[in-house]
Amino acid sequence: MIAPSILSADFARLADELAAVPTSDWIHVDVMDNHFVPNLTLGLPVVKSLLQVTDIPIDCHLMIEDPDRWAIGYAEAGAYNVTVHVEAANDPVALARNLKAAGSKAGLSIKPGTPLEPYVELLKHYDTLLVMSVEPGFGGQSFMADVLDKVRQARHLVDTGHLKLLVEIDGGINADTIEQAAQAGVDCFVAGSAVYDAADPGKAVEALRAQAAG
Ligand code: DX5
Ligand code: ZN
Repeated sequence: MIAPSILSADFARLADELAAVPTSDWIHVDVMDNHFVPNLTLGLPVVKSLLQVTDIPIDCHLMIEDPDRWAIGYAEAGAYNVTVHVEAANDPVALARNLKAAGSKAGLSIKPGTPLEPYVELLKHYDTLLVMSVEPGFGGQSFMADVLDKVRQARHLVDTGHLKLLVEIDGGINADTIEQAAQAGVDCFVAGSAVYDAADPGKAVEALRAQAAG
């Protein structure tokens, strides 16, 4: 699965930018609050507008403090998957339950420096695991291959039936890095600059998909 991140799109033309990637599996929307990360992007009103102009499922990545308070609104608005950071969540089990009750999938994200082991038990409450392969906050950063160990761990837990989870990766995914991520066991690839800095974003999505499939 390929999920273009609109962080690298033209924010003045978001409807057009979504239309430019019609074969995407998900559209990845980065919500940043300038507290959890040192950058500020967009919030619920923009997500509600995006939901009006596309049928592609919206994947909200909340890089915000106090997701226990704010995440539910994205699920209620109709986002397909709502991902919160384990480093920010106060009660991640209740949060997952509330997101699913509101009608979305529940996603848990871990920063590059956060280990997976302490959260394995928690993951049974979640539908997706978003492994960050850059420090969250900005597009266009270099891929951190070290995090692929966490992808392999998660893949193993899924393949051996210990977890039922979709493994997503975010940060630095492009033509040079997607194959190693695919080999490590990623299901869903977020790509911002590799899609929206390309001359033809729609073709870039298809090229990444073909590479991921090997
Ligand atoms: C970064 C965001 C990413 C970002 C990825 O904090 O979570 O989704 O858009 O951008 P690229 O693909 O350019 O690394
Ligand atoms: Zn993201």
